[in-house]
Amino acid sequence: MIETLEWTDSGVRFIDQTKLPTDETYVTCTTYGQVADVIRNMVVRGAPAIGVAAAMGVALGVKDSKAESVGELKQDFDQICEVIGQTRPTAVNLFWAIRRMRDKFEQLRARSLPQIKQALIDEALRMHAEDIAANRAMGGFGATLMPESGGVLTHCNAGALATCGYGTALGVIRAAVEQGKKIHVFADETRPFLQGSRLTAWELMKDGIPTTVISDNMAGAMMKQGKISAIVVGADRIAANGDVANKIGTYTLSILAKAHGIPFYVAAPFSTIDLDTPDGSKIPIEQRSPREITHIAGKQLTPEGVEIENPAFDVTPAKYVTAIVTERGIVRAPYLEALRQLAGEEVAK
Ligand code: MRU
Repeated sequence: MIETLEWTDSGVRFIDQTKLPTDETYVTCTTYGQVADVIRNMVVRGAPAIGVAAAMGVALGVKDSKAESVGELKQDFDQICEVIGQTRPTAVNLFWAIRRMRDKFEQLRARSLPQIKQALIDEALRMHAEDIAANRAMGGFGATLMPESGGVLTHCNAGALATCGYGTALGVIRAAVEQGKKIHVFADETRPFLQGSRLTAWELMKDGIPTTVISDNMAGAMMKQGKISAIVVGADRIAANGDVANKIGTYTLSILAKAHGIPFYVAAPFSTIDLDTPDGSKIPIEQRSPREITHIAGKQLTPEGVEIENPAFDVTPAKYVTAIVTERGIVRAPYLEALRQLAGEEVAK
């Protein structure tokens, strides 16, 4: 399995996703500031991977703290969380992970400094393992929605590289293939960062899953030609009403899917569901550097000084989402009730 991110004795190790698919290289962060940088620069990306990277960053910062009392350690902890919390605004997994580390710290206040440090590392490792287990469970549920054979379109990379392993949307596809379904994946290239053509194609080819890369503007034509039986994407944040923030271009796909009568599925772990955000209009959308649009591989493609927009995500209204696949099961509209019910089950456990 691809090791997207890993806790090691020398630091937090990441596969460098900015270098794929041509170079498989790894970066080891030895400080929490470096972890914040690799999240911001998208060496690691994808909502669940960002969440676990944040937790490991917090654990790393705390481990290296020179604090001599729990009070001093808490000050360092708050500073670390602040820095990591400023990296990327849309994927709610980042804030979910920081909150979980905060809750853990509060539970540990009566312990010694070495015990607190070790327990925070353990918590981050637990989150890593839980993410893979969630993806496997999601795959099991989602595979039932996949066609026996046919084309499945996906956007961006919601695979092993976007998670701690196996993937969300690609986990659903992997599980369907493991069950013997004959799936051919269509991977949108996903301008401007090209997560589809660089990352999704790379990891599916490693698994031997038939894959065709298309440019984003070909998706409608592929649907019209009957080549797409289903669409499955991941999510960066799902609001309480089922609106889905995901990679820019997802919204367009959802409308194309509706127009062509193709089911549009979203696969995401519960850590991506944000019941505190009532609807998609309240989800903060990250604006990234114009350079991602103006340049490809260092080559300028646009006239000097032209205005650029680069929102990294858009919001798909819940009414275009056929179903949301989580590790706890599949939910359908009305999402407000369905998601609350799913969250309630967790509280009751
Ligand atoms: O900007 P990115 O590459 O972090 O965006 C990633 C996506 O939009 C993914 O589809 C989403 O995080 C789901 S990953 C399982």
